[in-house]
Amino acid sequence: KKWYAVIGDPIAQSMSPEMHEAWFRENQINASYIPVHVKADELEAAVSSLKRLGCSGWNVTVPHKTAIIPFIDKLDETASRMNAVNTVKVLEDGTLYGMNTDGQGFVRSLQEVYALGETIGNVLVIGAGGAASGISFALEDAGFGPITFTNRTFEKALQLSGGFSSGSALSFKDAESAIGKFELIVQTTSVGMNYARSGIPLDPSGITEGTIVADIIYNPFETDFLRIARESGGKTLNGIGMFVHQGALSFELWTGITPDTRKMIQSISTKLG
Ligand code: ATR
Repeated sequence: KKWYAVIGDPIAQSMSPEMHEAWFRENQINASYIPVHVKADELEAAVSSLKRLGCSGWNVTVPHKTAIIPFIDKLDETASRMNAVNTVKVLEDGTLYGMNTDGQGFVRSLQEVYALGETIGNVLVIGAGGAASGISFALEDAGFGPITFTNRTFEKALQLSGGFSSGSALSFKDAESAIGKFELIVQTTSVGMNYARSGIPLDPSGITEGTIVADIIYNPFETDFLRIARESGGKTLNGIGMFVHQGALSFELWTGITPDTRKMIQSISTKLG
């Protein structure tokens, strides 16, 4: 029997195990998927143990996405550009192959919900960390843009924008003033997540009606940022779709099978909503 895993710290809250187990069942694949709590200083040992114990592949979550790179044999183009791995596949000869499905997962969830035949110009990305960079590369690859970056630490937004053909950067204050001109806004910071559950990085109430506003957070189900955007006429999208699609892409890379994402998004939404 094959087995897969997710490694992170903390890990108990992860919904990946039940998601992948459900997909294995639905597709009659005889495999299981387990959460493994790995602390930062145990990462190298954990990687060699997973390999030695015959794990076929694993997901990598906070805080190991970049730290795991020295222990991976080969990276695909996306993981290498993002300098972060969220999916590892153990190849037949034992080679550890590192990939990253986060950005593409976001784009797929956006396209699934809004059936975007065409791409969107004037994108605002809030945040300049790992999530912002992965999502922005995937948006650019899919033909979206120009992309404007805004971040609490402005220098990081400026630096990230330099990697994009049509990237530019604004302070939070200037982004707030210009917010009406964006057609897609993506909130990637951790503001409003988990324990805090309140607060906004910047005020989206000046958006133009019909603007698509996405937040990568899904717990809480609707952040303050997303609620204000919705009340201001935005079409909103929380982070459940991205979570499910990044997992679906991992599942495809491991098994070659495309799992049912719509049903999964619905069932997780019911649970958290
Ligand atoms: P991730 O991989 O989730 O993107 P990260 O790389 O640590 O995590 O990036 C966190 C992002 O959230 C950054 O853009 C950070 O802003 P700074 O660069 O100024 O630190 C942003 N962030 C975190 N806490 C924030 C807060 N309280 N207000 C505004 N932005 C915040």
